Amino acid sequence: MYTLIYFSPTGNVFYLAKSLAKYLKPFGVQLLPLEFISLNQLESNEHLVVMYPIHGFNAPRTVKRFIRQIPLGRYKDVSLIGVGSSLHWMNGAASSDLRKLFAKNGYSVIVDEILAMPLTIILSFPDDLAYKLIQESDEKMKSISKSLIERKQTIPFVKGKSLLVNFLGKAESFASKLFGLELHAGKTCNSCGICWNNCPEKNIKCIDNNKPKFGSNCIMCMRCIYSCPEKAITPRFSKFLPIKQGYSLSKYLTKH
Ligand SMILES: Cc1cc2nc3c(=O)[nH]c(=O)nc-3n(C[C@H](O)[C@H](O)[C@H](O)COP(=O)(O)O)c2cc1C
Ligand code: SF4
Ligand code: SF4
Repeated sequence: MYTLIYFSPTGNVFYLAKSLAKYLKPFGVQLLPLEFISLNQLESNEHLVVMYPIHGFNAPRTVKRFIRQIPLGRYKDVSLIGVGSSLHWMNGAASSDLRKLFAKNGYSVIVDEILAMPLTIILSFPDDLAYKLIQESDEKMKSISKSLIERKQTIPFVKGKSLLVNFLGKAESFASKLFGLELHAGKTCNSCGICWNNCPEKNIKCIDNNKPKFGSNCIMCMRCIYSCPEKAITPRFSKFLPIKQGYSLSKYLTKH
């Protein structure tokens, strides 16, 4: 039986998690969103698979915190699948911290893989490239599920230059905190609450006038910005960071 936990601020990781769950279904699989579950809800199980998006050549803080809390002996095996926007060597050390956290809790990682999906920040990938990435990752899910089922260890060799980029990328975590303080909701906000109910870091509070107030716990995941039905949320200065027209994976899927 597999417990498949995914963290997917804007939908890419969730899409691939569903694909993996389909392959693991005959063996029993629980598919759960990382930010909305508590550890007490998690049953002891044979194999825990954590799927996460790559942010700044690392795993997001939300995922590191979750893994830090997993008690010793809860699972027999653990595996990691990171999803970035390319298979470039720069992402090569993305799972390093997660592997160390697992090792501290007495776990050794069986499968450790990286996949690529369309970019969700700064610029929109052209439709053809985006669709190609989605198809290739979907295809790779089949071989990853095989490794999981056969318990075939797939730990990548991490180059020194990937580790360096991974270390430098940690500055992104600090930049994200500032980004959170820059966010604000404009006049079109209709107080629907979608943003404050879904922020993975609980960084958005509903204040007296039923409007959102953003704090400094942001991980720059873009979820609030892209999911606001009124497109009311923008950063004051870093306006180049969110994709102007928003991000929607279904846009790429429905075109083909
Ligand atoms: C703040 C931020 C930082 C990112 N950094 C990287 C990165 O270092 N390498 C990469 O390949 N993709 C990076 N991406 C792209 C995402 O990892 C990628 O699009 C992922 O599939 C998004 O998954 P999600 O839609 O489930 O959130 C970044 C995205 C965001 C929002
Ligand atoms: S999601 Fe948008 S419209 Fe809804 S409360 Fe947040 S800012 Fe306002
Ligand atoms: S405030 Fe918005 S961008 Fe920041 S972590 Fe929350 S949902 Fe993500």
